[in-house]
Amino acid sequence: MLAELSNVSKSYLQDKVPGKKGEVIPVVRVLDNISLSIVETDTMAIVGPSGSGKSTLLNLIGCLDRPDAGQVIINGSDTSDLSDNALSALRNRFIGFVFQMHHLLPQLSIIDNVLLPVLPGTDPAAARDARDHAMALFEKAGIAGHYRKHPYRLSVGECQRAAVVRALINRPRLVLADEPTGSLDAANAAVLGDMLLRLTDEESAALIVVTHSSELASRMDKIYRLGAGKLTPVKA
Ligand SMILES: Nc1ncnc2c1ncn2[C@@H]1O[C@H](COP(=O)(O)OP(=O)(O)OP(=O)(O)O)[C@@H](O)[C@H]1O
Ligand SMILES: [Mg+2]
Repeated sequence: MLAELSNVSKSYLQDKVPGKKGEVIPVVRVLDNISLSIVETDTMAIVGPSGSGKSTLLNLIGCLDRPDAGQVIINGSDTSDLSDNALSALRNRFIGFVFQMHHLLPQLSIIDNVLLPVLPGTDPAAARDARDHAMALFEKAGIAGHYRKHPYRLSVGECQRAAVVRALINRPRLVLADEPTGSLDAANAAVLGDMLLRLTDEESAALIVVTHSSELASRMDKIYRLGAGKLTPVKA
């Protein structure tokens, strides 16, 4: 088992109503006692209306946030036992992220952006290996001709493909993508969807995609719908 959520809940305080001093602030339970298992070969979509908690759920799986109750178990470790530093180290090694916006740093070339998550202090042989890995991934992503360029010289679609390469650079076992095609037109979205599936498969990483695109969701082996705090299998 790669990752497991066991009876996970998460609530947020709603903002205070302006001018209504002293009013009790309602708590919104975004995730209500959710359990989910993720295995090595999974490709999974999480769908549901805007505001249903899809990003909240993905952030818990990715250890970017902690639940109020329940356990997030990554590769056999209960993450509630880990310090913030230990959790960051586990995340860096084990999980790759792709977001709706590529978040490449404008002042760095594509290759330098991609190599940024490679831990500082990596020995020269490992650094060379990471660079070779990046070049091989650029080739597969169809952006090998662009690796020395800065992000502003690439299209949004090309930048998003570079973001997928960055997510894979540390050879993660699990890739989490939150609306990875949300900023792309239909043609580029199709290319990116193909690439995400192909590269995660070749790199032996499981893939979880949060998406509003039924086309992208339908290409995953499993589909879950989030609504009213609960996760329901649609295709399993
Ligand atoms: N840090 C936060 N503080 C307070 N409320 C939050 C916070 N993050 C999310 N929420 C609330 O929790 C709910 C779920 O948010 P979330 O971003 O997980 O939804 P989503 O399903 O990803 O929506 P979308 O499809 O629009 O991205 C929303 O009502 C949101 O306003
Ligand atoms: Mg979201």
